[in-house]
Amino acid sequence: MVDAARHPNIELLTYTEVKRVEGFIGNFKVLVEEKPRYVLMDRCNGCGACAPVCPIEVPNEFEEGLAPRKAIYIPHSQAVPLRYVIDIDHCIKCYKCVDACGKLDAIDFSQQPKQRWLDVGSIIVATGFDSFDPSELTEYGYGRYDNVITTLELERINNSAGPTAGQIIRPSDKKFPKKVAFIQCVGSRDERFNLYCSGFCCMYTIKNAVQWKLTYPDADITIFYMDIRTPSKGYEEFYRWAREMGIRFIQGRPALITEDPHTGNLFIQAEDVGLGQLIELESELVVLSTAAVPRADTEQMSSILNISRSPGGFFMEYHPKLRPVDSPTDGVFLAGAAQGPKDIPASVAQGSGAAARAARILNAERWEIEPIVAHVWEDRCISAQGKKCGICATKCPYNAIVVEQGKAAEVMPAKCHGCGGCVAECPHNAITQMHFTDAQILAQLHALLAKEPEKKIIAFMCHWCSYGGADNAGTSHFEYPASSRGIRVMCSARQDQDFVYEAFRLGAGMVLVSGCHPQDCHYITGQRVAAERFERLAKRLAEMGISPQRFRVEWISAAEGAKYAQVIREMDEVLRSFDPQALKEENERVRPELERRLRRLTEIPDVAKALEQVYA
Ligand code: FES
Repeated sequence: MVDAARHPNIELLTYTEVKRVEGFIGNFKVLVEEKPRYVLMDRCNGCGACAPVCPIEVPNEFEEGLAPRKAIYIPHSQAVPLRYVIDIDHCIKCYKCVDACGKLDAIDFSQQPKQRWLDVGSIIVATGFDSFDPSELTEYGYGRYDNVITTLELERINNSAGPTAGQIIRPSDKKFPKKVAFIQCVGSRDERFNLYCSGFCCMYTIKNAVQWKLTYPDADITIFYMDIRTPSKGYEEFYRWAREMGIRFIQGRPALITEDPHTGNLFIQAEDVGLGQLIELESELVVLSTAAVPRADTEQMSSILNISRSPGGFFMEYHPKLRPVDSPTDGVFLAGAAQGPKDIPASVAQGSGAAARAARILNAERWEIEPIVAHVWEDRCISAQGKKCGICATKCPYNAIVVEQGKAAEVMPAKCHGCGGCVAECPHNAITQMHFTDAQILAQLHALLAKEPEKKIIAFMCHWCSYGGADNAGTSHFEYPASSRGIRVMCSARQDQDFVYEAFRLGAGMVLVSGCHPQDCHYITGQRVAAERFERLAKRLAEMGISPQRFRVEWISAAEGAKYAQVIREMDEVLRSFDPQALKEENERVRPELERRLRRLTEIPDVAKALEQVYA
């Protein structure tokens, strides 16, 4: 932290909030708000004369509320910069700190928030994580029983600069606890709260237990766990060492903790999976290893930065294997637990990776962007004719489309991510997507349905999830009928309702539209836009007289090969249950209405030309 603060090329903005981010890779503009400290940075020297005279005491956040702090304070003794700040919500304006500051005259109650714009080329998001609040698990009594604490509280108690100067005492009677129990996976791997594993809790618990045992060899230490996970270098050896030194490991998640009100001791009821028995263990202190959860402001940051979130709520990387440091927004990178729970070595590695990725942009004179972007046909855009529209701009999750009065919509390629949502939503077919044009997709559709269309299932799939799911079904050897034919687009948002109409007009037996699960979509709101569109479409198809079973919407992740195979098997079964003659008659009946709806699409010159080539 000190190195960063002293570096000539780093401007450290502390106590500052990001309010807005505009622009694109290489040319971001960031609006920040510096909050008032009521202490002048250039005059305060961190001497600390002010804090002792302050009459206010409130719980110290850094000490997990185990010690008080004053209304004028530094967050912790090694804070960078070492400058005081006044907690104005608790300050009673007695001005004793002003007197104590004396000639330095560093206190200024007239300070106001200050906003300013920064020009930046790239952004690294390293906002960390929050700790799960275990009071939600009422069975463990956190908040009710003094001697049930969290690991973070233990870390502060164990710290020589902490509230007890490193002396291990339990909160109820300040006595040294000889019997201690650690409980793992509190808030993680639990369907009620978070499904994910927080990754680092096993190791920090073992570290705390070993440290304790080394200092107090007679201590009776038990760790309750579901599975011990030690995947990194040297971790398994460390775990074995902990067992050998006499730390007891019991596999089983405790179901209930009760307290003896006289002694403050705790009784843990659990199933010992190894023994296959219910057990009860008395302990003087219980330490809960709480889950890492996304920071409370993650939702706000994700909309400011235009980056999506994974199912657990952490920021989503561009690709989990190939681009684990990049966010889906070009020029924005992720580091540390903001992207998902990880330990210190992994955070450092990702931080270094993010810095290197960001530096590449700063050092480049020009930057190549992905070619899959939207493009407006100016002559078809009705905004250019002075008519009111702008639907494309409202559907773009990246604010990459500008519509000015009397002009055609304009796509900023550097901001466009190529989801194709605008293309599918434009009622005038005035936008196309490079490499996924209407002509290209319809040419595929016509080719696939050229023979025996009534025996085919057309599956529209998004690149990132459902196409990966289909691939996974193949590589995992999950069998499914050969009646399905896939068409890949980047996001389900690109799956135009006209593609579905055209598939049925051509006589397709069944149509599947598929994409990522809502929080897996790589284009922020892409899946949501598609889900709404298909809900409307399903109703419309049914009104037109198409049997509802012939159109299906499924969200399938890249890992769900089995689900993809199952969906196709089910659809094939339904298709086979139809009487072929009845299916043909249904198609004939709805064809005029489908043709009426599709007139515009087939009129597009490049679509017509592509189709000519298919049939040639
Ligand atoms: Fe799969 Fe958007 S990327 S639905």
